[in-house]
Amino acid sequence: MTKETLLRMARNAAAFAYAPYSGFRVGAALLCEDGTVVTGANVENRSYGLTICAERSAVVAAVSAGQTVFRALAISTPDATGPVGPCGACRQVLSEFAPAELPVYCEDAGRPGVSAIDTTIGHLLPFDSLHDLGHDEH
Ligand code: THU
Repeated sequence: MTKETLLRMARNAAAFAYAPYSGFRVGAALLCEDGTVVTGANVENRSYGLTICAERSAVVAAVSAGQTVFRALAISTPDATGPVGPCGACRQVLSEFAPAELPVYCEDAGRPGVSAIDTTIGHLLPFDSLHDLGHDEH
């Protein structure tokens, strides 16, 4: 599974976004331990604060399907003018399952399948002291 393939799967997932309020579609693709890919899209709500980001949609879908070990995350934002990383809430939720080394690829604006930012969840959420609560199996 190449980075480009994962980004293209995230791009395809963005087409399923429900984003009538922001008009900002996001797709996420999680490469799981067994090689399967679980995708997610942002799902907005007329009560705006209930919006669920694409990244959390993907995590919840993966865990609900029995996948809890992730190998990489790709994020596609076809409506953006630059690369977009996961929001703070999504970084926290991702860190529940992902090791700090989990690669995170953020698609370049206007260039489907091309990563503009290659980072890790550990860089995006440094000093994750909540891992000390005793739930950390990574
Ligand atoms: N959004 C995501 O789905 N993921 C991100 O990383 C950034 C923001 C969504 C939430 C909302 O539906 C829209 O993008 C605008 O913020």
